[in-house]
Amino acid sequence: MQAKDGVIELLNKILTADLTAVNQYFIHAKMCGNWGYERLHAKIRERSIDEMKDADDLIGHLLYLEGVPNMQRLSTVQVGETVPEQLKVDLKAEQDMLKILSDGIVHCTKVGDFTTRHMLEDMAEDVDAHIDWIETQIETIKQVGLENYLAQQMKKEAS
Ligand SMILES: [Fe+2]
Ligand SMILES: [Fe+2]
Repeated sequence: MQAKDGVIELLNKILTADLTAVNQYFIHAKMCGNWGYERLHAKIRERSIDEMKDADDLIGHLLYLEGVPNMQRLSTVQVGETVPEQLKVDLKAEQDMLKILSDGIVHCTKVGDFTTRHMLEDMAEDVDAHIDWIETQIETIKQVGLENYLAQQMKKEAS
């Protein structure tokens, strides 16, 4: 199917943000694992995979619209040296993503691409959940202190 005006560029921009997020969450997960924070390791690793699934959907949709997915481009991966720094840069990345998606939703409405709009709306919902989780962690650290918080991260969550 032929894409509406600007939609391929838009999808590639989101793809770049998601591929960057895959890498950023992945390195953060590995660092948490290395520090012995098993619970955070599992959670952040899961996030990296969530972003990979977004990339998967975007690539599929780009091909469906006869576009060329841009796999080369990555934004700067921000690496936090401590858990609170990681949370801070991940929050920023998710907020930036929300902005790109909101602009994209407006654009899709304008050009009448409701399939892509629906896809971006679903992604924006996930971003909301990701932001909410990070904000909760930051708030918990404020309330119980970093040491107490980190002590709780050493064991895997009971499943
Ligand atoms: Fe994503
Ligand atoms: Fe996300």
